[in-house]
Amino acid sequence: MVLDIFILLCLLVLTPQTVIAVDKGNFKTCSQSNFCQRNRNLPEGEPRYHVFPSSVTPEPDKGILSFHIKDNNGVTLFAVLQTLQQGILRFSLKEFHPVPTHERFSPSEFSLDNEPTKLPFKVLSQSDTQIYIQNGEIQAQIEFSPFQLSALREGQPFVVINKRNLMNFEPFMSKDDWNASGVDVEGTWEENFKSHRDSNPFGPSSIGIDVRFLGAKHLYGLPEHSDGLSLSDTKSDGGDPYRLYNLDVFEYEVNNRMALYGAVPLVYSIGANGSNGFFWLNAAETWVDVQKVSDGGDSVVGSLLNSVFNSGGSSYIDTHWMSETGLLDFFILPGPTPSSVSEQYSQLTGVTPLPALWSLGYHQCRWNYKDQEDVAQVDANLEANLIPYDAIWLDIEHTDGKKYFTWDANKFPDSIAMLDKLAERNHKLVVIIDPHIKREDNYRIYKELKERGYLVKSSDGSSDYEGACWPGGSSWPDFLSQEVRQYWSECYLVENYSGSTSNLHVWNDMNEPSVFTGPEVTMHKDAVHMGGWEHRDIHNLYGLLVTLGTYEGLLMRSKHQERPFILTRSVFPGSQRYSAVWTGDNEASWGHLKIVVPMVLQMGLGGIPFVGSDVGGFFKHPSPELLVRWYQVGAYSPFFRQHAHIDTPRREPWLFGEDNLRIIRDAITDRYQLLPYWYTLFYLHTQSGAPVVRPLWYEFPEDYNTWDMYEQAMVGSAIMISPVTEIGQASQEVYFPDEDSIWYDKKSFVRFTGGETRSVSTPLDKIPVFLRGGSVIPFRMRVRRSSNPNPDDPFTLYVVLDGKQEASGCLYWDDGHSFSYKDGNYLIREFSYKNGEFSSAAGATSGGFSTKSWIERILVIGLKGKPIKVALSSSGDELFTKWDLDSKTLEIRKPVENIKTDVKIRFSF
Ligand code: NOJ
Repeated sequence: MVLDIFILLCLLVLTPQTVIAVDKGNFKTCSQSNFCQRNRNLPEGEPRYHVFPSSVTPEPDKGILSFHIKDNNGVTLFAVLQTLQQGILRFSLKEFHPVPTHERFSPSEFSLDNEPTKLPFKVLSQSDTQIYIQNGEIQAQIEFSPFQLSALREGQPFVVINKRNLMNFEPFMSKDDWNASGVDVEGTWEENFKSHRDSNPFGPSSIGIDVRFLGAKHLYGLPEHSDGLSLSDTKSDGGDPYRLYNLDVFEYEVNNRMALYGAVPLVYSIGANGSNGFFWLNAAETWVDVQKVSDGGDSVVGSLLNSVFNSGGSSYIDTHWMSETGLLDFFILPGPTPSSVSEQYSQLTGVTPLPALWSLGYHQCRWNYKDQEDVAQVDANLEANLIPYDAIWLDIEHTDGKKYFTWDANKFPDSIAMLDKLAERNHKLVVIIDPHIKREDNYRIYKELKERGYLVKSSDGSSDYEGACWPGGSSWPDFLSQEVRQYWSECYLVENYSGSTSNLHVWNDMNEPSVFTGPEVTMHKDAVHMGGWEHRDIHNLYGLLVTLGTYEGLLMRSKHQERPFILTRSVFPGSQRYSAVWTGDNEASWGHLKIVVPMVLQMGLGGIPFVGSDVGGFFKHPSPELLVRWYQVGAYSPFFRQHAHIDTPRREPWLFGEDNLRIIRDAITDRYQLLPYWYTLFYLHTQSGAPVVRPLWYEFPEDYNTWDMYEQAMVGSAIMISPVTEIGQASQEVYFPDEDSIWYDKKSFVRFTGGETRSVSTPLDKIPVFLRGGSVIPFRMRVRRSSNPNPDDPFTLYVVLDGKQEASGCLYWDDGHSFSYKDGNYLIREFSYKNGEFSSAAGATSGGFSTKSWIERILVIGLKGKPIKVALSSSGDELFTKWDLDSKTLEIRKPVENIKTDVKIRFSF
């Protein structure tokens, strides 16, 4: 008995500190999800769908090929194949006969940036058994019986659809017809999970397809999962498929395929056919099985190296996509390189517009900064400890009883004074605004939403849907409706949001949506949205819709003058156009630190580049070492914010002793000094959709050693990070990709040769960061109290030479906050070093931004020897230089008076 009490006490004391674990019982497995089972259990290889040859209607000029497909029960389906820009193929399938009961939902209107451009195709051949067409470099072949679609480049297939005959399209039908079809009814029309019942009034309507990636060795993507980067074989380990169903997973585990807060149904392959992509556009609950079939040797790699991506390998990866309902609609992205896949995807779903410069700085957050005084003190401490920061954040406790758009008047009696005081020193405030609305009649927003019928309805359609969240009993605005989004947008206007100013920015949390009392902690699938859509149809899109409303609101608030900043937890394709995202409620453990880089990479590949983790871990308290290492990862993540759970001890940087404070300050300083580079990368993302932080294989697809790596990453194409994510790690192995590349340690300029793994020492104050030979990287070395105080501060350029003694790079710059760049108010500088001459010239599309900033220093790294003379090419005037013998770097002081001045500098040896 005494022992029992002792054990119990130990558990009580230790559990919160030592173990946190997701309660898996709260979330469905595939076998608990009826449609997942139905689809996963389909027999492979049994032909079920056939094209009517006579229905095949090519309209080459319009880029549309339509046809009818019949299933084995005689149901006719209507299929359309479209040939789009850059060789993209789009295929969609729906019932041929209009369905009286329920339509199929498509999230296109919200996910796609524009209607994709259809391009004409040529019919290469057509017969009773197949049709073969060509769009640019890409061909598509449809075989009729059974239905199979292949995408080919130069006649070589790289993606084949329905190879395994797992295509499935459950047409809507009446319950009587379904019963008559003899399919087991249990769980199809009504599904129970724990105490929750899903009435599923329209019955089964799931869809599925199998997709084979020929020649592929790895697949990547499917954010959001707390998993390594290369997708694992879901069939061989007996586990579940990857699940995409936006959920608030309390205490999520690492290395797991369970659903998390966001869903981007997109994958990239890599292998003998280069890199190809597949994008499944569906907002309902989705599962994806992955099965790797290897040729057992490295012949693929050999052929890859020999003939840039074109020869066939016999490895392939099979995938099986299953969604509960909705239109069957997918895109094949032909690549053939990782960067062309991301470009093709971004042409469909859009890019993150240029963020405000301040949002790329350091953010200080916790749940919660208690009151106005606390905010003032944190601000003062950051300043006193010489820590630059751009925003301080307030979590849910700042509100009056979790009623968003209000303030707790005791804790924040004068929020405007607080906002103004922060603004005086170029700091921002970000506050949380969640989409659950407290059901309290004297809460204006609830009252108005209710009276106008703007809330999501419960399954019977008549009453407002009700559930619990932070405020207790809550309802949720129906963001599917434009009118409701407009209402939400107006809530952000300064005149409607009392106690706010334009210095307040927004964090939309809990937007999966999280419903504490709902099935799997989310909304019931049979809840009803505008137009009669079920929540089931739109679930994964809900979070995006919240941020869309917020984005429009912030634009309206500034009369379209300022770039909005929003942080969201839930994402879907297209979310990148409105918000940054973070990886949710992680924990202060080394395992969670290790998973940050792959999760950031996953999200970037999914077209959402502005991503980061809670620095320090949300749950539990980090050791000083863990916190320091986390700052080092955060400083090289696109979004950089410290955040912590309300029950954790305070963890601001100055609470961990002088040494740790100094190292943390150094990491934050690194971030600020590199802001011109980060900003330029976000600009480049707007041009091509390239992720800002990207996997090594994205930059070096020919280097197959990188294909399975995810602990190292590239920040743009010029910087490689290999952060320390293990306790007490005094040194670590770093792989330097690409035999032809040269790398330099960012601080010591020690040189490393590509194609080798080297051990580097990693004392606590060391962030393993390496510069790629061949790059010019812009810095601003004068770190101020935030990103903004002195717009005229000078730039420093690192010219990092490659083996041919060459380098190139660019800088994008503008006012950092407005949209005037759209009127040409920006500058682009192109830098190069070649044949012993450095040049800075206006980029081809350079605009008219005027600035007094100059170049205070050029540091040339990797010169073959000390030049005897360095002079302006135009006048021959010698420049002031300093040669450092140890690091073999040459410093040129003040070469030009203004960053916009074209200059050439000749190096004589
Ligand atoms: C859940 C979020 O993930 C977390 O970051 C936040 O602090 C809490 N909600 C409270 O708002």
